[in-house]
Order: sequence, then C-alpha cells, then structure tokens
Amino acid sequence: MKLVILGFTGDLTRRLLVPAIVHLSAHGEIREVEVLGFGAEPWSEEEALDRLEAFLKTLPDVDLAAWAVLRRRTHYQQADLTPKGLEALRGLEGDAVFYLALPPTLFAQAAQALSELGLADERTGFRRLVVEKPFGTDLASARALNQALHRHWREDQIYRMDHFLGKWATENLLATRFGNRFLEPIWRNCHIEWVEITYAETLGLEGRARYYDHAGALRDMLQNHLMQLFALTAMEPPAQLSADSLRARKVEILRAVRPIPEGAQGFAARGQYQGYRQEEGIPPDSRAETYAALKLHVDDWRFQGVPFYLRSGKRLARDVGYVALALREVPPGCMGAVQRGYLIFWLSPQVGLDLTLYGRSLESETLVPHTLRYRPEKAPVHSAYEELLLDILHGDLSHFPSEEEVEAAWAIVDPVLKAWQEGEPEVYAPGSEGPASAQTILEPGHSWLPLGGDI
Ligand code: BG6
Repeated sequence: MKLVILGFTGDLTRRLLVPAIVHLSAHGEIREVEVLGFGAEPWSEEEALDRLEAFLKTLPDVDLAAWAVLRRRTHYQQADLTPKGLEALRGLEGDAVFYLALPPTLFAQAAQALSELGLADERTGFRRLVVEKPFGTDLASARALNQALHRHWREDQIYRMDHFLGKWATENLLATRFGNRFLEPIWRNCHIEWVEITYAETLGLEGRARYYDHAGALRDMLQNHLMQLFALTAMEPPAQLSADSLRARKVEILRAVRPIPEGAQGFAARGQYQGYRQEEGIPPDSRAETYAALKLHVDDWRFQGVPFYLRSGKRLARDVGYVALALREVPPGCMGAVQRGYLIFWLSPQVGLDLTLYGRSLESETLVPHTLRYRPEKAPVHSAYEELLLDILHGDLSHFPSEEEVEAAWAIVDPVLKAWQEGEPEVYAPGSEGPASAQTILEPGHSWLPLGGDI
C-alpha cells in the first residue's frame, strides 16, 4: 500500500499524520505501507527525513524504533502540484491513498493533477483521496470544491477529514446512545429541555495566525466539529451504523435545522479575546471572532422545541469539551424546588459521562444530586488521527462527512457569516467565560454550564 502525502513538509504532516502512522506501525496495525512524500521545500530526501526526525524527537510518546523502520520506507521529493511536478507517480500500481495535507486553496488543483496522471483509476487497486479541513469557507465555495473534486473522483473515493469523528468520546456518545435501549424514549423533547455543545480552549493561536484570522471560530470549529456533534446527537437512530445510514441520518437532521434569520439576531454571538489584535501576524483592526456561539432549532418530531446551543472559543477559562443534555424538571408542586438534571458526555480533556439524577439527602427531606460518573481508567488506545487513518485504509466512510453533509452544515452557518460581515465581535477577557452577549441567545430559564466553576 502506498500512502502519498502532498504537503509532506507542512505542520500537519509532522505534528499529526506521521506520529499517527508511526504509532499504528508500532502496534502492527499497518504493515507494508510505503510513504511517498511531496512538498514545496527544496530539500533532499535525507534532509527532509532528518528534519522530520528531529521534530518527532521533540514529541512525547513517539516510538523512535518504529519510526526508524518506517523511515526506510519513506521517500521525499520536492514537487509542484502539477502533472509534471508529480510525474514520478505516473504508472503507480496497487492500492494507494492520496493525502492532501495542503492549504485548502490547493485541494482542487492537487486532485486534478493526480487524476490527470491516471491515479484515480482503480484498475490495479483502490484509490482514495483524503481532504483536510477546512472544506470551503462558505456554502458557495464548498459546493465549488465538491464539484471540482467530483470531476475526477467519485464521492466514495473521497475522505473529508473531521478529526472529531475519530475521537473515542464521539464514538462513545453514539455507542451509549444506541447501546442502551432505555435511552431511546428519553432522547427527545419530552425529557430534554435543551442541549449544550461546548468546546472551550485556553490556548490561543498556536502560530496559526494566517489561517485563523481568515477563518475565525465559526468556520474553524462550529461549522464542522460542533455541527457533526450536533448531528450525531439530534439525528434519528440509523438502522445500522454503516456509512450510508449514518450519513443519511445526519443529512436529514442538518436539513431539518430551521434557517437562521437574516441578521442572526438572538441566534448567534461572537467575541474576540482582549489582546488578539496584538498577536503576531494579526492585523491591528482584525474582526475575526475567537469565540462563536449559535442557537439551532430543529423542526422534526424528536427535537422540535429543544434549542441546541453550540459554542467554542480560544483563551477561555478552561479546556473543556462536552455535549450536555439538560433534562426537564419535574412539576414544581411535586418535589419542591429541584435543580436540573444533566446527562453529560465529556469530550475533552477528560472523557466519560455523568448522569446527574436527584435523590433524597441523608440528613433531611431535601433532594440532592446523585451523580453517576463514568471515567475510563485508561486513555483510548488510538488518537483521532489514528482511528481515521485506519478507517481510510479499511475503506470505511462512516467517520467522514459526505458532500451533502458538508453543504448542509454550511447552509446553516451562511446567514451568520453574512450577518458578521458587519459590526465587530465583543471583546472578552482572556481566561473568562467569553463574551457576555453569548447569554442573549439563550431562551428564558436556560443557561450555559459555567466553564470556570465545578461542572
Ligand atoms: C482544530 C482547530 O480543527 O481543532 C483548532 O483548527 C482546535 O483551532 C482543534 O484547537 C481542537 O481539537 P483538539 O482535538 O486538538 O482539541
């Protein structure tokens, strides 16, 4: 099997992709893979691999013995993304995966160059094309990119990366939801009052100023990662967890989202952390949002009337990611004033789940929370990238968004992107809960879980 990486000298390759391949090789899960790297840097093969190796040595947990073995099967060549530049690939035989670890503006060109070399043709083995995020910058550009890829590649050859779909915690949400029959009648509007999907980070730009300042939090996190979590939480149960069924269910729910009205007033909030404009590489008048929050309504039988609140931001009070189902309260006359119960799926940094139910206090008649807590004892065996690489090698598309899903997700956020062409994000203090305006999208009686407090 050949793994062709275009963008071999880039950050994604050395930080995520190669460590994942090394880890899988060390565990005997991928064998006989030959890595053919192409990149813009005018380095010899030896220099490219030496540099990569020096970087891998700075990472924790990279098995250097496994890397040494893989290194012997890894090659590098400087190339531009034209049939001429990639001529060395002409006539490639057997199974091959083509990984576009490239800036998004180059996806279409690379896909075309590969196909002009006859590399999409599956006569001698499977041919799969992996496209990194971001997939488009709005609905129109995502459509154009889909069309450009489809000129040369079939939809079932295209693997669109969304690493949240490779996370153990995301799989566990599905496994818990569909592995416990008693949850099915509860998982709907008569027992759930709202759903909160949060991914908060304390980190800032991490040297990605150029990309991030054009993207902003809505494109970077909500349109893809959080929208996928939303779809998995809100969709109808698929009859099987096959790629076709899952994708069909996700598209159905994404299309059932009530269109956000023009101006997005009361449906979206944005913020920018104080000091962002002074970060290296950021223009002093940047209007990019480093925090975005959205409210979605779903017009279907299961979740009609249940708002889904999505939020994500940088430099917030703490690193925490979760999907929280806020359970409806009992009638007020019944048990006195009770707090709200939650079913929370933790995504990051801890994984697991909490179910908070109410029971009697040991001392008095009052109700107190009894939390059923599950935290796995060990870390998941595979990182998200490893999971997804294995899926690509096995030809399993179930953890990759389809063309229709990506477009439906963009259709949801497009009105917000449009509204945010005007005005400015609200400034928030680093280390805080984010902009105060995020409160204004909540319906009466609803609240975000506190990031800084004891959730
Ligand atoms: C990436 C975003 O897709 O996901 C980053 O571009 C973000 O801005 C990251 O930090 C969060 O994912 P994880 O798995 O690294 O916590």
